[in-house]
Amino acid sequence: MAVNMKGKDLISIAELSLEEIYEIFDVAKTLKEKLYMGEEHQLLKGKTLGMIFSKPSTRTRISFETGIYQLGGHGMYFNQNDLQLGRSENIHDTAKVLSRYLNGIMIRTFSHQDVVDLAKYATIPVINGLTDLLHPCQVLTDLFTILEKKRKLKGLKLAYIGDGNNVANSLLNGCSKVGIDISIASPKGFEPKKEIVEHAIETAKYMGSKVEIVNDPVEAVKNADVVYTDVWASMGQEKEAEERKKVFQKFQVNLELVKHAKDDYLFMHCLPAHRGEEVVDEVIDSPNSIVFDEAENRLHVQKAIMALVM
Ligand code: CP
Ligand code: NVA
Repeated sequence: MAVNMKGKDLISIAELSLEEIYEIFDVAKTLKEKLYMGEEHQLLKGKTLGMIFSKPSTRTRISFETGIYQLGGHGMYFNQNDLQLGRSENIHDTAKVLSRYLNGIMIRTFSHQDVVDLAKYATIPVINGLTDLLHPCQVLTDLFTILEKKRKLKGLKLAYIGDGNNVANSLLNGCSKVGIDISIASPKGFEPKKEIVEHAIETAKYMGSKVEIVNDPVEAVKNADVVYTDVWASMGQEKEAEERKKVFQKFQVNLELVKHAKDDYLFMHCLPAHRGEEVVDEVIDSPNSIVFDEAENRLHVQKAIMALVM
């Protein structure tokens, strides 16, 4: 079985094969069981992970830092502004230097191209911890969580309601790869990136699944197994928040909307949530909601990613 991913970057789910995705899930499941059983799993003893952040984070930072520690390695947090990178040392030189000290880099930043460039010049694996374009570790975790709960992926329907942002883009990449039908409802002008939609449509053909982009939340949620949403204004869009609240009003995930999903639908959200905006308490706190299992699984899935690529 084992697929060799050593040295590989994790920048986009679109660059992973189906076998690699399932390898990550297998390792994540094993590592989760070992952690629960209190069994030793120090697969990265003595290894170091540099974590560069130019946006805030709760889950990503803490799950990566805890994860590398549990694997026997050491994680170092850097605010981009603490590095010379924030004072104009270029990405090329930064990548070369960090590659001489570290065994892996996790980066969360604005520009997706910066992450691509970092990976190009680094000789160690680079893991994308979110860019304006994509959030692959989140969506790999989401798929793993759906698999845990529903025991399958192919043939399910996921409805994403809201902004066509980094999470929506990665859901398109991820769902089309594993054969989940994905239906995205966004307001006009806030749909996911065109190239990613087109790529997802092509990818979905291999699995015989569907990709649908609509402007009506009810249409998207119809018969869904999973209802997913995210904030209306992402990090870096704070100035647009008030304007967006008006545009997205009809895209709130509330009790009225989820009536159209299957009775045993799962509610998911990458978190942080803006309760009362994209989702109401009655949904996020309902028995259908798995948001905290989803958050926990970031730890197990990212440990698997690190163990495989580092
Ligand atoms: N979901 C997620 O990436 O959360 P953080 O921004 O807290 O890392
Ligand atoms: N779309 C959100 C995700 C946060 C984890 C953002 O980019 O802010």
